[in-house]
Order: sequence, then C-alpha cells, then structure tokens
Amino acid sequence: MKSDTESLGQLILGMRAVYAQGDNAMAWARANSAMAGNELVSTLVAYDLQAGSYVAYARENSNYVNKWCIQLADLIKPYLEQGDKILEVGVGEATTQAGVIKAINCDNTSAFGLDVSWSRIKVGKKWVEENDVDCTLFVGDMFNIPMADNSIDVVYTSHSLEPNGGREDAAIKELLRVARKAVLLVEPLYELAPENAQKRMTEHGYVRNLKSTAERLGASVVEYGLLDIFSNPLNPSGVVLMVKSVTTSRRYSTNVRADWQCPLTGVPLIDQGDVFHAEQVGVVYPVMRGVPLLRAEHGVVASKLFG
Ligand SMILES: C[S@@+](CC[C@H](N)C(=O)[O-])C[C@H]1O[C@@H](n2cnc3c(N)ncnc32)[C@H](O)[C@@H]1O
Repeated sequence: MKSDTESLGQLILGMRAVYAQGDNAMAWARANSAMAGNELVSTLVAYDLQAGSYVAYARENSNYVNKWCIQLADLIKPYLEQGDKILEVGVGEATTQAGVIKAINCDNTSAFGLDVSWSRIKVGKKWVEENDVDCTLFVGDMFNIPMADNSIDVVYTSHSLEPNGGREDAAIKELLRVARKAVLLVEPLYELAPENAQKRMTEHGYVRNLKSTAERLGASVVEYGLLDIFSNPLNPSGVVLMVKSVTTSRRYSTNVRADWQCPLTGVPLIDQGDVFHAEQVGVVYPVMRGVPLLRAEHGVVASKLFG
C-alpha cells in the first residue's frame, strides 16, 4: 500500500506525462491513480497544467468572450448596490471575471476571485492588470471558502462546479453560506442538454441536478434555463440563479477589504501583506509571489509569529 505522499508524487508525474502527449490528464487520473478518490488534487493538477490557455483563447476570441461576460454581468447587476462585493468561485485566469467587472460598471464594487490552481491565479493576476481591472485573486477551495458567512453580496461561478460531479450538495451549501444576497451558477445543465452532450458530461464526471439540489437545500431558484450564448454545444451553459430567502443586514466589516476566515478553524483571518494571520489560533497562511494561499492544507501552525 502506497503512502499518500507517494501516490501524490505519482499522480503529478503521470498527469504531466499524459498532458505532454496531448491526452486527457483528468481521465488518466480517474483510471490510474491511487488518489482517484481525491478529485480535488486531480482537478488541481489538470487545470494547473493548462494555465495560460484561457488567456490565449480570450485574446483570439475577444468578441465572443465580451458577449459571454456581458451576459453574466446582466444577470448579476440587478443584485448589486454601490459598494457591494462579488466573488467568482473557480475564477481560473480571470478572463470571465475581468469582463464581468467591466460590464457591471458599478461604483465601488469590490471583486474577489478564488481558484484551486496557483498557476491559473498567477496568469489571472497579469490578465486583470493588463485589462486595468481591480480584483483580489487568491488560491482557495470552493468547498471551504476562506471567507465569513454572508460576507459577499453576490457569489457566482462560470463552469467551475462543472468537474465536481457528485459533490453538488457540498458546493452549493458552501456558496450559499458565503453569499449575502444571491448565488449565480453558470454551469453546464445536464438535465436540459441533448443526449450526445449528456453522454460527454457523464464521461467527464460533470455536475448534475443543480436546480433540484439548490431547492432541496432551501434556496429559492428564481431563474433556470440555458443561456443564449455558449461556445460548445456539447457543453451547454445554463443558469441556476438563487436568492437567499433571509438576507442578513448589510455591512460586515467596512474597514477591511474582505472578511477573511481561517479555513481550518473558522476564526477571523487578517491580511498582513506577506502572510494571512489567524492570531486567535496561531495559524498562518503564506503568500507566494503575491498570491495568497488560503486552502486549509496551506495553514502553518505558527503561534509565535510575533514572538
Ligand atoms: C472550466 S474552468 C472555468 C474558469 C473560469 N470560471 C472561466 O470562466 O474562465 C474551471 C475552473 O474551476 C476551478 N476549480 C475546479 N474545482 C475547484 C475547487 N474545488 N475549488 C476551486 N477552484 C476549482 C479549476 O481550477 C478551473 O480553473
């Protein structure tokens, strides 16, 4: 029996080799890896290897990407007031987020984006700079978001729940926890897809039953259906828009950009620039080349940070 460390090493080596040959690294991981049960790690490796491809696509297809972003912004805008906060979960290289922020064009909106892949966030930071867009990008896990309950006005996704088939319940619960007003899922909708698309989605292990899961969790779904514009007919994008039935009062903290929360312990996390510090519990999260690493796995027990 291999240790987790050995299995992780072999997963990384195997996926890199398969990717270099132009094959599907995720499919290889599902079939071959001793860590096949740990989908987050294989998702992370697969997407990290592709870092840069979304920016290349956005450069070559700027008209399409603009239309895509305007379509999403139009769904988000009705829920935003001045000074609100938005978060894209699974932001990738921020090619969607940069366009959404521009199209929202709402004063003082603070935008945040998290992704499990460091390389994609690094590429995304360059992209938002190049596009003159202000947003805070960090590494995080959508199943354990390092932010307080009800601290983000609108939380949205764009095809990031997609590879997490079987974990729909946990993902939607977590997005609803962090959102104050609304959660917008822009994801492939298996139930509304034609048969050939459903077959492909099954092969890739994509999400299903997003609307019924949201409703079972008590969310009120106010919009559901396929979008007008999407690029791949075999992966038809649709919308599940949820509004929170009880909206908590506005304004969490006004003196900080975000209400960060330690993903290990749930206590407040303070952005100190070079590290994020959960002082109450003596846990620190590093910042690597300007990118905060805010998954629970990144926590360092360091009770003497100031000692
Ligand atoms: C298809 S890409 C979409 C990227 C971006 N939303 C866009 O519209 O361009 C899916 C993204 O979701 C991220 N992702 C998947 N599972 C995740 C998880 N559990 N936590 C955080 N990010 C995740 C992947 O790393 C990848 O960057």
